[in-house]
Amino acid sequence: EREGYPHFMLKEIHEQPRALQETMGSSISDLQLTPAQIRGFSKVVITACGTSYHAGLIGKYVLERLARVPVDVDVASEFRYSDPLIDENSLVIAMSQSGETADTLAAIKEARKKGCRTLSITNVVDSTITRETDDVIYTRAGTEISIAATKAYTTQVMVMYLLGMLFARERGWCSTDKLAVLEAVLYQVPDWIEEILEQENNIQEIAGHYHTCDDFFYLGRGLDWAVALEGALKLKETSYVHAEAFAAGELKHGPLALITEGVPVVALATQEDLMEKTVSNIRVVKARGGSAIGITVGQSDLVDETCDYVFQLPKAPSVCEPAAVSGCSAALCLLHILCPGLRCR
Ligand code: M6R
Repeated sequence: EREGYPHFMLKEIHEQPRALQETMGSSISDLQLTPAQIRGFSKVVITACGTSYHAGLIGKYVLERLARVPVDVDVASEFRYSDPLIDENSLVIAMSQSGETADTLAAIKEARKKGCRTLSITNVVDSTITRETDDVIYTRAGTEISIAATKAYTTQVMVMYLLGMLFARERGWCSTDKLAVLEAVLYQVPDWIEEILEQENNIQEIAGHYHTCDDFFYLGRGLDWAVALEGALKLKETSYVHAEAFAAGELKHGPLALITEGVPVVALATQEDLMEKTVSNIRVVKARGGSAIGITVGQSDLVDETCDYVFQLPKAPSVCEPAAVSGCSAALCLLHILCPGLRCR
């Protein structure tokens, strides 16, 4: 069943291009929301746990940028205790790979109690969550056996983009031309991920330089921060080492104290408009003796000059800025490969 892969996580990492194609092909076609309902929501709340929560953070970015609808992202285990400010004009989205996570189910019950419209995004057909929500979108990742979520996450991110585009279209915030470009970009993502997967040996080699380190830090801004959080979670649960993610700008507000000689910092710099800012944070890391692993898109002299190792992700056309999905999915894919590499302690 592992088809020659040493473990299911790696097999599922390699299944990402296919899973994304499947998800793009069919996932939001069953959505029952009418254009009037989509236009009528005053806010969207995404609630989820763990990796699904991290995909929700990307969802906030995408929905707010593309459709200009306010989005909150809440950890599901906190949601029902927070007396959330939601009503019948809110759309509450519960994201869960399994569709069975107790806290996420409890959050959706709370949303229904308050009269909200509810939508689940799940990978498992007929899971409990699908019966608790008004609408369902299925990610088409295929069965995920590995406890560490990989293809489930990337397909959730893809659904967030598809939903963002639908909301943008209905709410009139994006030109048809821009949406067409974004759609074309999304169709390229599976190929980009293939390209990243081809760098696997390279990535393993670099991982080999760090496999005795006990602490890892991840930093990024905007979308990169959301991806950094998922990278750190993945490293913890697969490698049993301490890993933390920071918004890059927060580094100087305390965490810098932890960056000492040789401490590895994975710096995500995939968004051109934020590149210089993130590079200035990398410089600070280097000045403290830290070791920087940069993840960027295309060739960036700035990142090259400051980092000890650099991974280049395929570059999306910059014509539409949320096309950062290329960076984000591919960066994640890369982090997923890096994690098992680091496990051989
Ligand atoms: O099935 P769910 O998406 O609701 O699971 C939520 C989390 O337990 C899950 O995403 C977990 O964080 C990942 N398996 C970690 O890789």
